[in-house]
Amino acid sequence: MCGIVGYVGTRQAPDICLAGLRRLEYRGYDSAGICVVTDGGDLDLRKVVGKLDVMQESLDEQPLVGSVGIGHTRWATHGKPSVENSHPHLSTNGRIAVVHNGIIENYQELRAQLESEGFVFKSQTDTEVMAHLVEKYYDGDLREAARKAVLDLQGAFAFGIICADSPDEMIAVRRFSPLVVGIGEGENYIASDMGAIRAETDKVYVIGDDELCLITRDGIEITDLELNAIDREVYVIPWPADAAAKGEHPKFMHKEIFEQPDAIRACLAGRLSSADKPITFENINLTEDEIKSFKRVVFTACGTAYHAGVVGRFLMERVAKIPSDADLAAELQQRDPVVLDDTLCVIVSQSGETADTLEGLRAMKAKGSKIVGVINVVDSSIARESDGVAYIQAGPEIGVASTKAYSLQILTIELLALYFAEIRGTVSPEEAREIKECLLRLPEDAQTLLEREDDVLAVAKKHYDKSSALYLARGVNLPSAMEGALKLKEISYIHAEAYSAGEMKHGPIALVGPDMFVLSIAPEGPTYDEMIGNIMEIKARSGPMVAVAYDGDEKIEQTGVDPDADPSDIAGRPNDMIYVPKTHEYVSPITIAIPLQLLAYHMADLRGEHIDQPRNLAKTVTVK
Ligand code: F6R
Repeated sequence: MCGIVGYVGTRQAPDICLAGLRRLEYRGYDSAGICVVTDGGDLDLRKVVGKLDVMQESLDEQPLVGSVGIGHTRWATHGKPSVENSHPHLSTNGRIAVVHNGIIENYQELRAQLESEGFVFKSQTDTEVMAHLVEKYYDGDLREAARKAVLDLQGAFAFGIICADSPDEMIAVRRFSPLVVGIGEGENYIASDMGAIRAETDKVYVIGDDELCLITRDGIEITDLELNAIDREVYVIPWPADAAAKGEHPKFMHKEIFEQPDAIRACLAGRLSSADKPITFENINLTEDEIKSFKRVVFTACGTAYHAGVVGRFLMERVAKIPSDADLAAELQQRDPVVLDDTLCVIVSQSGETADTLEGLRAMKAKGSKIVGVINVVDSSIARESDGVAYIQAGPEIGVASTKAYSLQILTIELLALYFAEIRGTVSPEEAREIKECLLRLPEDAQTLLEREDDVLAVAKKHYDKSSALYLARGVNLPSAMEGALKLKEISYIHAEAYSAGEMKHGPIALVGPDMFVLSIAPEGPTYDEMIGNIMEIKARSGPMVAVAYDGDEKIEQTGVDPDADPSDIAGRPNDMIYVPKTHEYVSPITIAIPLQLLAYHMADLRGEHIDQPRNLAKTVTVK
């Protein structure tokens, strides 16, 4: 999605903007631009289609010079990727420049009105109306002009605005799209994501909806849209400046997969210290009476976070005995669900900014549901609008394909379900202890799985040239199959689908053949015998098989193997095995996620794909 970085100070703004935009590259973009106020009192603008390296080359050839500037990476929504459509956009008189994230919903009416007043448009974007509106209202006071312009807008936005005639100022304003103001000494910053400016400062103001900021070298004034001053607390970014660097890992995704043992420890800390002690939760803002009274839990999220919600549905019903659903956030709004009293909505989101998820939250809140967010990014929009928050504590996740956030979302939800179950008295002390022991062992299990990376690589080498894959599972691991297939398709571009293995005979088995590999998740437990049956059916139809099983399962490698088959026939080959340490059924989705992330990673790597920036994808989807 689009990225914004702006700077007011004494150093060269293009350097700061470009470095900040590079830290947002992972979010996905197709064009970029930077605009500065020059010493001569003009604006100087550079825009390019393609990667930031193209921008760097252009700046090397002909530098932009100025200590006040705004930069942007654009992920096209209104109008194709082109120089004209990339940001910053200039006003008709060329004295005002604007960068924008979000979507202005009433831009067509505004554009028609502005054109009738003589303003001249150069792009197909919704953003450009803002540049002309600010010019229309500007009479020497940039903040006042931006304020009046914002009052005309409907939709979602975060803006950075500079003006050649107010050369020492930058304006920032937001509604629904994320924005922070970074605090320096004699210099200040704006960014759509704190990661963009963490290398410059660890102190930021997190800006709220309809808040307007006037930023100069020496000061930051935050007001509402009536210009009432807002006294905002400084937020100190808790992660180190190099947390958003790859370190020794070839890719961010690889680094983040390998961070899981420590991340799991951090997520458990303060919540579960011993198998004999009850779970504790801070900040979820639910009383024991409320927890006892819930009659329904609805998990709402998109993509990977939705898969964690599907695990949550299973656990909340099984452990806390509360009827539960998991809804795709985009579909929730279409369905206009009936929300009865005593409903809890658990909103799952890594970024806390996903547009559909945020809208789902608002819809459920409006219907009277209590909201608890399971979120990674502290103080994000979803975190702020939830009644209570259980932070997953993953630290920054840069790789577009979510990995550590997924396992920690499940872990946090599992702790929440157990916490509820202990208060509601729906889990026996023996079972609670058994689950807790497995949760406490997770960091070591995760470490063991990472040490087996070469085994997963060997499996990847056998199948990375396939064009298609089917991931099968049952029960609590059905979402593991859904997530494994999503990981594979989004970074390797191998077509991958997930099915309940129980559905195989109702259609998908028609696809099975040598060009497709089938991955069956078959840990010993309640679904094991049926999974073994499915493996045999697939082998009998010459489908290459990868089986995920617990350590010590000696029979599954040979399951369905026909000893009389010709050695060239797949039916005669042993199954390719991915072993995971044995754990409780309810904990297994977390351990099983790790080798499936590694499998997707290595398949994509063997195919030479851009793992951290897969095509067409953005890390945070802030538009609907
Ligand atoms: C896939 C992936 C996405 C996100 C989804 C929701 O690897 O990362 O499917 O899970 O876009 O994002 P958040 O969790 O930020 O709301």
